[in-house]
Amino acid sequence: MAKVVLEGVVKKFGPVTAVDDLTIEIADREFVTLVGPSGCGKTTTLRMIAGLEKVTAGQIYFDDDPVGHLPADHRDIAMVFQSYALYPHMNVYDNIGFALRMMRVPRAEIDRRVKWAAEMLGIADLLDRKPRQLSGGQRQRVALGRSVVREPACFLLDEPLSNLDAKLRVTMRGELKRLHLELKRTFIYVTHDQAEALTMSDRIAVIHDGRLQQYGPPDDVYNRPRNVFVAGFMGSPTMNLLGGDVGFRDGLPYFTARGFEQSLPARLATAVRQAARPGSFLGIRPESIVVRVDGSTTPPRESSWFDAPVYIQEPLGSDQFLTLEIGGTLVKARTNPDLAVRAGDRVEVAFDPAKLHLFDGETGVSLTI
Ligand SMILES: Nc1ncnc2c1ncn2[C@@H]1O[C@H](COP(=O)(O)OP(=O)(O)O)[C@@H](O)[C@H]1O
Ligand SMILES: [Mg+2]
Repeated sequence: MAKVVLEGVVKKFGPVTAVDDLTIEIADREFVTLVGPSGCGKTTTLRMIAGLEKVTAGQIYFDDDPVGHLPADHRDIAMVFQSYALYPHMNVYDNIGFALRMMRVPRAEIDRRVKWAAEMLGIADLLDRKPRQLSGGQRQRVALGRSVVREPACFLLDEPLSNLDAKLRVTMRGELKRLHLELKRTFIYVTHDQAEALTMSDRIAVIHDGRLQQYGPPDDVYNRPRNVFVAGFMGSPTMNLLGGDVGFRDGLPYFTARGFEQSLPARLATAVRQAARPGSFLGIRPESIVVRVDGSTTPPRESSWFDAPVYIQEPLGSDQFLTLEIGGTLVKARTNPDLAVRAGDRVEVAFDPAKLHLFDGETGVSLTI
């Protein structure tokens, strides 16, 4: 069992508050990802869970027991770092089994665990090789193997894929997810890559400036972002945020920004009423924008078409991204690759009314969830 709970955890380094009042519960066997930009406090949080760093305030519990007094080697965790240093003079077998030898585990048991881990990680045929005879991906697997053989209750992974090339990262994130299924242990994974967070996690904790912004399943964080930070961090490209004003005309809500006006669906009336202060952000994801050039596409319900100039056109094989100029903001739309459009063209655009978000212009907090 390894439920991990952080309660009001604070970490200060002199004047710098690296982690600011973090409260989060990670269930036993859950795969939780801490995601956020560089410097937001992810590594510090992981190091406190590992016992490598003391908390300034707050408490960390494993299965309801406070662990503040427990040194790292008594916490039944294994940490995989971004920069994994393998022992260059040892072969893969000895690298993977090293920690077990130090713990004086019997030779036959070491042999069983090393072979089991190597099999699971697809490196069973590399056990005689030295690290320099391995590719980057194979080395990363060996580093994972070293922690897997220890069979900890909880794995802490700090950006373990960031030194790999883009293609290998995508392969490895699938394999890590698979590994989690097979090991049935708690995984706490740290990354700045929102795609890794979305694809791998049971729940995602989005962190900014040491503070928790939102904690929930990928679907929640992606489709119901709590604030503009989460909206603008998750997704690729991220959610478009148009700065403007909202109001009512003839009893119906609308949004306006620099020569652009869009009537809003009735379901946003409450949100518009809440946006008492002037200034709001209208949020729309690239895939929720419909673009047509020949008047042929059926508009989403309740929406109205307007036209906008195409600033950049980017083909991507399976998709096409258009950067449109709307109300003084550059807005990205994901469209069908067959749509014949070039930079400089004007296209007809509609926002899917079911997918519109409204955020407070001052606090950035969502008014629609
Ligand atoms: N040992 C340290 N001494 C002083 N400041 C630190 C130390 N470790 C981290 N920090 C600061 O704490 C903040 C969070 O760092 P870190 O947890 O490494 O972020 P992340 O892993 O999200 O990139 C940063 O501002 C960083 O400079
Ligand atoms: Mg870090």
